Amino acid sequence: MKVLVIGSGGREHSLVWKISQSPLVQKLYCAPGNGGTALKAENIDIRATDIDTLLAFALEHRIDLTVVGPEAPLVDGIVDEFQQEGLKIFGPKKELALLEGSKVYAKQVMKKYSIPTADFKIFDDPQRAKEYIKKKGAPIVVKADGLAAGKGVIVCKSIDEAHAAVDLIMLKRQFGAAGDRVIIEDCLEGEEASILIFTDGETIIPLVSSQDHKPIFDGDKGPNTGGMGAYAPAPLVNDEVFTKIIEEVFKPLIAGLKQEGKIYKGMLYAGLMIRENCPYALEFNVRFGDPETQVILPKLKSDLVEVMMQTVEGRLRARKLQWDEKFCLCVVLASGGYPGSYEKGKEIKGLEELDNREDIFTFHAGTRQKTDNRGQRTEFLTNGGRVLNIVSLGSTVKEAQAKVYSAIENIHFDKMHYRRDIGNKALKFLSQNSRIDCLP
Ligand code: AMP
Ligand code: GLY
Repeated sequence: MKVLVIGSGGREHSLVWKISQSPLVQKLYCAPGNGGTALKAENIDIRATDIDTLLAFALEHRIDLTVVGPEAPLVDGIVDEFQQEGLKIFGPKKELALLEGSKVYAKQVMKKYSIPTADFKIFDDPQRAKEYIKKKGAPIVVKADGLAAGKGVIVCKSIDEAHAAVDLIMLKRQFGAAGDRVIIEDCLEGEEASILIFTDGETIIPLVSSQDHKPIFDGDKGPNTGGMGAYAPAPLVNDEVFTKIIEEVFKPLIAGLKQEGKIYKGMLYAGLMIRENCPYALEFNVRFGDPETQVILPKLKSDLVEVMMQTVEGRLRARKLQWDEKFCLCVVLASGGYPGSYEKGKEIKGLEELDNREDIFTFHAGTRQKTDNRGQRTEFLTNGGRVLNIVSLGSTVKEAQAKVYSAIENIHFDKMHYRRDIGNKALKFLSQNSRIDCLP
């Protein structure tokens, strides 16, 4: 088979790494890819949002399966366009990618199928939104309807802050048309977890639970980022919570959509708030998570390409996935200044120290490889906000944590920044539940 992966982050490098292990795959491409994907796939210089050029490439190279990493091409309808040309592609069609593309649509669907979520109201008029905020009080959450590169959700501690958030989204148009409508939502307390499923629109195959760390600084301080680290499984998601998530969130959603004649195929990711063993859906993403994928795939023993083909072809019914029991942990190394402005082009030193370490996975995100004047590839340079993901498996949380942080000691680039507390929440949770550093 020939497989094309679309995207250029750590998620896509981990997808390329896992897909390259499949005996079904003879040739692997990544568009546009990064310095790391080039080690296992042929990088193709086409942007992830350039659907016409991607389609032309897939037709010309007779691609058997295309795997879409980021949300933007899914929301723009890449799956519909590929399918019209008879190509197999992993992901939902445009009408269902709206679950991520429109938070208003996602909340309406949650309400329709009685999926537990925070109470909310939708506004297209800023004045009405502000009056409602005044009535409800703070804390309160203001969300832009459309895609806003992960920045369209503002958790507000005061009424003034929430009013300013409405102005930012609806009047200053910070996120453009994404701010035509806002959702004003009750603020939920609890701890967050991510659950991803494969589904062919009928059968649901859950992946192991995971937990992202969005704020830039230790102790969940500072502005939100794309994700500074993750681990799997999330001890917070015990058997009871896991069952509730499948029964109360995913099953009603997939069955309800099917009744409407909408068959969801691909990866579906729920971001959840867990409080007192009860899950509340915060959002749906119609793709693999980043950095969740970087900790889920090293635990997956089954052939990813096989399960993706079964998803696309509606053959998931009898599917079982095999998992490594170990705990997997990922720390993201970021450029200084991220998620604000940062410099690119810094030389990354020490990567070769990790090349022969079978227990460490180095998934690149914002990197590129320099070429010298003879066209030979030389050192890696930083090329984005999130630069590298250092990942390891361990028999315990502490072991995985120690392996990752000692591996990081080898890596250097100017103004490198990373969180030093990834894994601590899992340790705290396990100790409070008197299962000190054991797996759930
Ligand atoms: P979303 O993109 O909707 O998942 O929101 C991004 C982040 O905002 C989440 O990961 C949460 O940290 C936070 N958030 C969203 N909705 C709520 C809510 N209703 N209550 C508390 N925090 C929220
Ligand atoms: N980990 C957050 C996301 O993938 O959206």
